[in-house]
Formats: sequence, structure tokens, C-alpha cells
Amino acid sequence: MSHNTFGHLFRVTTWGESHGPAIGCVVDGCPPGISVSEPEIQLDLDRRRPGQSRYTTQRREPDAVRILSGVVPARDGEGFVTTGTPISLQIENVDQRSKDYSDIADRYRPGHADFTYDEKYGLRDPRGGGRSSARETAMRVAAGAIARKVLGGVVVRAALVQIGDITIDRARWDWDTVGDNPFFCPDPGTVERWTALLDGVRKRGSSIGAVVEVVAENVPAGLGAPLYGKLDADLASAMMSINAVKGVEIGAGFSAAALSGEENADEIRMGNDGRPLFLTNNAGGILGGISTGQPVVARFAVKPTSSILIPKRSIDSTGQEIDVVTKGRHDPCVGIRAVPVGEAMMAIVLADHLLRDRAQVGERPAWRKG
Ligand SMILES: Cc1cc2nc3c(=O)[nH]c(=O)nc-3n(C[C@H](O)[C@H](O)[C@H](O)COP(=O)(O)O)c2cc1C
Repeated sequence: MSHNTFGHLFRVTTWGESHGPAIGCVVDGCPPGISVSEPEIQLDLDRRRPGQSRYTTQRREPDAVRILSGVVPARDGEGFVTTGTPISLQIENVDQRSKDYSDIADRYRPGHADFTYDEKYGLRDPRGGGRSSARETAMRVAAGAIARKVLGGVVVRAALVQIGDITIDRARWDWDTVGDNPFFCPDPGTVERWTALLDGVRKRGSSIGAVVEVVAENVPAGLGAPLYGKLDADLASAMMSINAVKGVEIGAGFSAAALSGEENADEIRMGNDGRPLFLTNNAGGILGGISTGQPVVARFAVKPTSSILIPKRSIDSTGQEIDVVTKGRHDPCVGIRAVPVGEAMMAIVLADHLLRDRAQVGERPAWRKG
């Protein structure tokens, strides 16, 4: 199974299966001299960790990360400093229950990757979904924590803005509430409605989709390249590579199709700080594939979990028509834990583009700095 690496100068390779002894990643191309520490990476991992509420899988994984290479102890004794060599990170899998999957080892869960893996490779690891499991996304989050350090003052945050057909009220958006509820919801007024909705979904043995919004602030103008290195194209690819993602938007996204030219155009004035000031951000911080200096905004739709307790028609690997019921531990709404994963993918793409920008354009004169 090839293509386990992404990024150009900040390059991330992930490895490992859901029920193997461990999962890991190698981050190649991280500049030297950047301070990193296991507790810092752990903070991000803990936000994605399973089993933290009744709305996510009950698999109990501490997701304790170890840095195996690419760093030396910091002079002040606090954590490590990168050396510029490959950084290897590892997490042990400690709570596999492979027998939960014996029922579906030869059956294709409708909506899952079982059928296509068998069609392509002729074999697969059915235990927990093997490599198709979103367990892999833990390593994206770990690599993303290092990308954040490369990005310095850039702030990357995400929130869940829709579950099923219930959307948040944007007028009540408060980043401070995102960490206070089990949904990463930025609108305290929506939490109760989502709670009732998801409790019903769980009781029915069903699942539900969601929309995640990722915002990066303090992104310097100039990241990205006009044609085949567009920042928006790379972001779309990165977000779409997250398990269960079926749609990605940048800025106004699909709603831009309903706007007139004068409504959509982000007007520009000069701000009091002597920098250009955009009056709106329909572009999501990207014009011509290059960052404008405004917040970079991406949104992605996550489909409902395909492993459900409600029987669905399918076939097995011999072509027999069967009904599939998936027992075991599954997230009823995978969009929830996709929130920190979306942040990580944004951070990794931006870190890669920052290094690519530096490599081609170098330092800009002070008057052009973002
Ligand atoms: C954080 C996260 C957790 C997930 N957990 C599950 C799960 O418990 N059960 C499941 O069937 N799918 C889960 N998925 C989705 C599957 O990994 C995904 O649907 C599958 O690999 C097929 O890929 P595709 O949906 O992108 O086509 C999860 C996705 C994410 C992002």
C-alpha cells in the first residue's frame, strides 16, 4: 500500500494499523533549532483521544506519544530541540479487541473501505479496519503539533459547526467554549440540541454526519503558488484525505455560487497599521492560490460512520448476498474527533508552504512582510 507520505519540504509519513502493536510517523524536513516536547504534542493528542465522552468510541487508548529521533535535549533542560534530521514519533496501541471484527472479516460494510481494499490488494487487515482505520489520524495530530511549532505565531483552531441538520448560530461563536463541551461546539446555545440529537442516534444504533470548520490566523501573505502549488488546492487535498470526509470548502465555498460579483469580491482598504485591510473574507484568505494575510478558512463535511448496528444489505468476499451489522466500538459521529485532525492537516499544509515560500522567495523586504 503506497502513498503514505504527504507534503514537500515538511514531509509526513505515517505507518501502522489499528490493531498492530503501535502506530507512528516520521516528520522529515523540520528545520533545526525548534523546541518540541512530548507533553506539548500530548496536549493535541488528548483532544483527539477516544473514549472521552459517550459520543465517541469507547476504545481506551492513552495515546501516549514518544519522540524517538530527530531531537536533542534542550540546553535549559525543558523538552527537546529539533536537529533537522527525521523526527520519529510513536504511540503504542494498548486496547485492541480484534475478536469484535471476526464477524465482519469477510463481509463488506456498506460505506466502509472493506470492498475497495479487497478489490485492489486482494487482502486486508480487518482488525479494526487496519490501515483504513482513523487510528492513523492520531499520527497526523502528533505531526501537526510539530507543524504548529514551525509556524510560530500562526494560530490554528477548529470547531464543529453542524451535526446532522442542526447548525450553530454564528452570531454566538465563542472560541473559549469549544473546549468546554464534548462536541468542540463554539456556540453554547447549540450544545443541548446536539446532545439530544446524538443520544437518539446512539440509542438507535445509527450514526450521523457533521461539518468541521478550521481557521488559521496570523498566516503571512504570500504562502502558496499560482498553479500547481495552490494553497487552497493543497488544503482541499489534505482535508479530503481525512477518513470519512466527502466535501471541502474554502471561504464562502459552495455558497459563493449564489453570490453576485459585487457581493463576493472582498474589498480592500488601507488599515491603521499601514497594511491592506480586507473588508470581508469570502476568499477564505486565499487569492490565486496565495495567502492574502487574512484568516485561512476551510470547512469539511464528514459522512456518518458506516459501522452501525442497523442491518444493511451487502455481500461477502465470496459474492454471497448478506446483511451486515457492525458490533464493536465505533464513534456515532466521527466528525467530533475529526476536529483536531482538521487542525493538524491545516498546520501541516501551512508549515510545508511556509518552508516552500522561504525556499523560493526568501525574506521579503520589511514593507512587504505580513
Ligand atoms: C476521527 C475519526 C474516527 C472514525 N471512527 C470510525 C469508526 O469508529 N467506525 C467507522 O466505521 N468509521 C470510522 N471513521 C471513518 C472511517 O475511517 C472511513 O469511513 C473509512 O476509512 C472509509 O473511508 P472514506 O469514508 O474516506 O471513504 C472515522 C473517521 C474519523 C475521522
